[in-house]
Amino acid sequence: MTLSSAPETADVVQRELRGNVLVVTIDHAPVNALNAAVRRGLIDAIEAADANASVRAVLIVGAGRNFIAGADIREFGKPAAPPSLPEVCNRIERCDKPVIAAIHGAALGGGLEVALGAHYRIAVDGAKLGLPEVQLGLLPGAGGTQRSARLIGAEAALSLMLSGRHVGAQEALRLGLVDRVGQTDDVFAEGLAYAHELIATHAAPRRTKNARGLADKEASATAIAAAREETQKKSRGLLSPLKIVDCVEAAMNRPFDEGLRFEREQFLECRESPQRAGLVHAFFAERETQKSPETRDAQPRALRSVGVIGGGTMGAGIAVALLDAGLKVTMIERDDASLERGRAHIEKVYDGLIAKGRMTQEAKARALQHFNGDTKYDALADADLVIEAVFEDMAVKKAVFAELDRVCKSGAVLATNTSYLDIDEIAASIARPQDVLGLHFFSPANIMKLLEVVVPARVSAEVVATGFELAKKLKKVAVRAGVCDGFIGNRMLAVYRAAADHLMEDGASPYQIDRAVRDFGFPMGPYQVIDLAGGDIGWAARKRRAATRDPNARYVRIGDELCERGWFGQKTKRGFYRYDDGARIGTPDAEVESIIDAERKRVGVTPRTFTDEQIVRRYLAAMINEGANIVHEGIAQRPLDVDATLMHGFGFPRYRGGPMHYADTVGLDKILADIREFAKDDPRFWRASPLIVDLVARGANFASLNRAA
Ligand code: 3HC
Ligand code: NAI
Repeated sequence: MTLSSAPETADVVQRELRGNVLVVTIDHAPVNALNAAVRRGLIDAIEAADANASVRAVLIVGAGRNFIAGADIREFGKPAAPPSLPEVCNRIERCDKPVIAAIHGAALGGGLEVALGAHYRIAVDGAKLGLPEVQLGLLPGAGGTQRSARLIGAEAALSLMLSGRHVGAQEALRLGLVDRVGQTDDVFAEGLAYAHELIATHAAPRRTKNARGLADKEASATAIAAAREETQKKSRGLLSPLKIVDCVEAAMNRPFDEGLRFEREQFLECRESPQRAGLVHAFFAERETQKSPETRDAQPRALRSVGVIGGGTMGAGIAVALLDAGLKVTMIERDDASLERGRAHIEKVYDGLIAKGRMTQEAKARALQHFNGDTKYDALADADLVIEAVFEDMAVKKAVFAELDRVCKSGAVLATNTSYLDIDEIAASIARPQDVLGLHFFSPANIMKLLEVVVPARVSAEVVATGFELAKKLKKVAVRAGVCDGFIGNRMLAVYRAAADHLMEDGASPYQIDRAVRDFGFPMGPYQVIDLAGGDIGWAARKRRAATRDPNARYVRIGDELCERGWFGQKTKRGFYRYDDGARIGTPDAEVESIIDAERKRVGVTPRTFTDEQIVRRYLAAMINEGANIVHEGIAQRPLDVDATLMHGFGFPRYRGGPMHYADTVGLDKILADIREFAKDDPRFWRASPLIVDLVARGANFASLNRAA
């Protein structure tokens, strides 16, 4: 046996004999994912080491910025190619020579499992270790559940695997996940020095499968029982978390090989599940949405100081998001009192975090050092970007943009956070339309991950690229949207809420609708959301649109009836639900049900009953159909942009991959048949999107459009 690799694996797994250490370098850009060639290369390298008497130790390192990011996610759903990852980890562990994993960057999932298969582990600063499989609907399937529990104990292993969190080098050392942390960040030199030290001290292979982390049976059993109880409560609807607990239990109760077999069965079940497909789709969708034509073609402008106009709900939340990202913020308000309120809003957000123990007083003071307020626009002369979040009124917005045009430096990016207004019209009202775009945040803006980057007709590519750059700085998921009433998210919301209203007037109670939607996986139903956000917001929008509404379209007045009574939801203690004594979870209200009944009578509807499944089918068909229209019109670039929007802005369950991915799993022909069936009652509302009709005729699905884009 020679030390050279087979040609097909040579590029991705390189071997080099450094004295008596065989250095095995995984070099598979971008993140050293473990595809079939890497797996084969690793086995070959260990075989070579065992067969060569001059090799006294093996050092595994990653080229580029990471050790190994895990299994190759792109291989899931395709036929499995040998060797399997468990075989690789087992072969590493069986090696007769000490194997050292030297970790920098990501050692995640299968990457950490490879390191756990090794006999010794060293990490350098900046390393990120974790078993995040749960976030992809999986569990560690290459011995990770069995080895991690044996190495660091049931409690710590469960906490890692159930949260999917990454730990740094120092925490990994404390947990016992690695043996030492390097003095420098030169992972190769640190790893090699460690290998030489192990050779010098005649260290033998030390196999993780023999580690004693589960020896205290009582402590392990207690940790497992606690994790199971917590998981049953928290991981509603998810397949893999409970299986992770089962695997750790197997690690405690069964011999290693049996535990491995059990783990593999559970892993394969998860890998074949629609949840895994949904979560992997979500993973790629949120990376794809960051790539717009403009980010490919243009460089973003510099972003250091940002102006925020308006210190209300959104302005304050946006200011916090910006401060959190280390940007300098200047807030402009109408007068001193409003400015004071704006600052108080910001402080309230920070105080909330302090009360929850997520922030310290010192950190708040540090953040606020970068905050300034003013009532004069001249304070924005140096701003690189200004985000306007004043009242939703075209005349007010145009007046603000006229001021910005007057004071802002040339090249400043001028953004509006409008929810519905025509951004082309705002842009056309000033002398520099090329600098105007929409940056549509969601409430609470410092928490919600979604940022719609709305692209008006005359904006320059650089400005759009700057919008995406801002999202990156704020750690938000940016989705490119075109200009229309409501962009992607709110336009869909209007339609699926209308479908819910129709269901309510036709006989379903708001409580049943909320429950059915929750059972599908949304954290809240539509009427709970209205009560939380305040029914008055939608009411004001409906009144604004009353004059232009199609008089023949169905209009459900129930929400208006509640608002006319001053029942706006939580803040008024009554909405669709009652919130007595400051309760945050509402209780059903018989009076609301009589109001609904009266409305049914008034419009001449004989109430019908709906099953929860029928409710969900209508609700989703409405959402999917409007999503298809949005793609068809080019407002969203691809179906996956719609998916990312609904998952990150509207609570669509991530494990279902967003409405368009979900539609593919149901079958577009079935969705179309549903829409045509519902159209028999209300043909004006239920008009099948031309895109769905076309895809069904071609036997294609939404995924084909994601691939083609
Ligand atoms: N497989 C295939 N491709 C992957 C990948 C993986 N495991 N991880 C990342 N990539 C791809 C991304 O899709 C992206 O591709 P693109 O450039 O074409 O868009 C590219 O690598 C770079 O990724 P990021 O943009 O995310 O780069 P960052 O530097 O921001 O983050 C990272 C790097 C922390 C490694 C992050 O990509 C990540 O968290 N990856 C997933 C890690 C993971 O979940 N691993 C577990 C996999 S499941 C498993 O191992 C099963 C096993 O137990 C059997
Ligand atoms: P808000 O009413 O809470 O705040 C608006 C603030 O703007 C007030 O503090 C007001 O004093 C200030 N203001 C008004 N005119 C001004 C002017 N000429 N100069 C400086 N300040 C001025 O409103 P909210 O909810 O923060 O909404 C702001 C914008 O964000 C609107 O366009 C809205 O459509 C949009 N939006 C709102 C969301 C929400 O959930 N509330 C979500 C996403 C966007």
